[in-house]
Amino acid sequence: MIPLLKSEKLNHVCYDIRGPIVQKSKQLEKEGHQIINLNIGNLSSFGFDAPAEIQHDIIKNLPNSAGYSDSKGIFPARKAVMHLTQQQNIKGVDLEDIFLGNGASELIHIAVTGLLNNGDEVLLPAPDYPLWTASVNLAGGNPVHYQCIESLGWQPDINDIRQKITKKTKALVIINPNNPTGAVYQAELLLQIIALAREYHLVIFSDEVYDKIIYDEAVHIPLATLSEDVVTITFNSLSKSYRSCGYRAGWMYISGDKMRAKDYIDGLNTLATMRLCPNVPAQWGIQTALGGYQSIQELVRPGGRLYKQRAIAYDMLNTIPGVSCFKPQGALYMFVRLNPDIYPIEDDKVFIQDLLEFTKVLVVQGSGFNYPDNHYFRIVFLPYEDQLKEAIHRIAKFLKFYQNNIHNA
Ligand SMILES: Cc1ncc(COP(=O)(O)O)c(C=O)c1O
Repeated sequence: MIPLLKSEKLNHVCYDIRGPIVQKSKQLEKEGHQIINLNIGNLSSFGFDAPAEIQHDIIKNLPNSAGYSDSKGIFPARKAVMHLTQQQNIKGVDLEDIFLGNGASELIHIAVTGLLNNGDEVLLPAPDYPLWTASVNLAGGNPVHYQCIESLGWQPDINDIRQKITKKTKALVIINPNNPTGAVYQAELLLQIIALAREYHLVIFSDEVYDKIIYDEAVHIPLATLSEDVVTITFNSLSKSYRSCGYRAGWMYISGDKMRAKDYIDGLNTLATMRLCPNVPAQWGIQTALGGYQSIQELVRPGGRLYKQRAIAYDMLNTIPGVSCFKPQGALYMFVRLNPDIYPIEDDKVFIQDLLEFTKVLVVQGSGFNYPDNHYFRIVFLPYEDQLKEAIHRIAKFLKFYQNNIHNA
């Protein structure tokens, strides 16, 4: 037999949020177990519905959606994104600088593929959202991870970023608000990042898909509001703030010195035309979403569902011996630390598989976010209170068992 091998380009590509552990989880489901899926930020599967107005506009326009649209997306949706940049005081974003895509995910691939030659380096946060690292690998680039410092609320370490810049560095990624840590960055830090990008002629990729999911006093500052010169691509989508991941509707816009980026933008246009156009029905939801009432605010303010669930998860996790996590200022996740003295973990993939078998709760190991330490996992705090409490009770029970068995082994 001559085995049919996958492309070597996939050798370093991984996406463990939906990786091999999910197969194990499906197997358990087939055997009749009910799994609590805390592995993915899929809001609708936890009763967070897409706003009715968005659904309505997509349905209403379905008859107009059978043909290909402009390869960058329909006019009203791109115009709505343009108006948003104007309201936010982001300078010089024209219609032609706006691309719609099948979620931010597709646009991340396009933006990265359009920029990198083999061996080019991209600076990415550790922990990261793994699609970024995977996309850089797939495009023939080398991901270089900069540290985010847990004791400083997971803020990026500017000195580490600076030290890791080489002649091959082309771009710097920031994820703000951050998945998986929940950090939200302040202006001072963003300005430092912009200054570095300016000094070393880097493109900034600013992933802001959680921009409206922020808690307490945190304020999200779109990075592009702070610079008129550094070439920046900002990514966003309907997936999270508008609870519409399945519609696959996202956008990116280019700001900064577009003269300098002319050739790169030509490349982006080519890539956009090659996919013909993004999913058309979902694009009709974008104008409504951006302009209308922002119902996400009801969920994130005190008393709102996300606000309450965040508090429950945070309080419960932090009372388990040897478990700690930063209280997220944004997004839907907690990046949970296990004290290595209490829970010595050699392989975090094995650890979460054991956790799944014992608890029937599915989480993602820290190494799935390219974090070089085996003592972390990420959970989403999306389930209703009762289920969330049940899941964390089971995790606590498993950790007790784990601790006793490790120490008795
Ligand atoms: C940080 C981050 N960026 C991008 C995406 C992709 O989102 P989309 O559904 O718009 O493709 C996600 C999805 O979870 C994410 O967490």
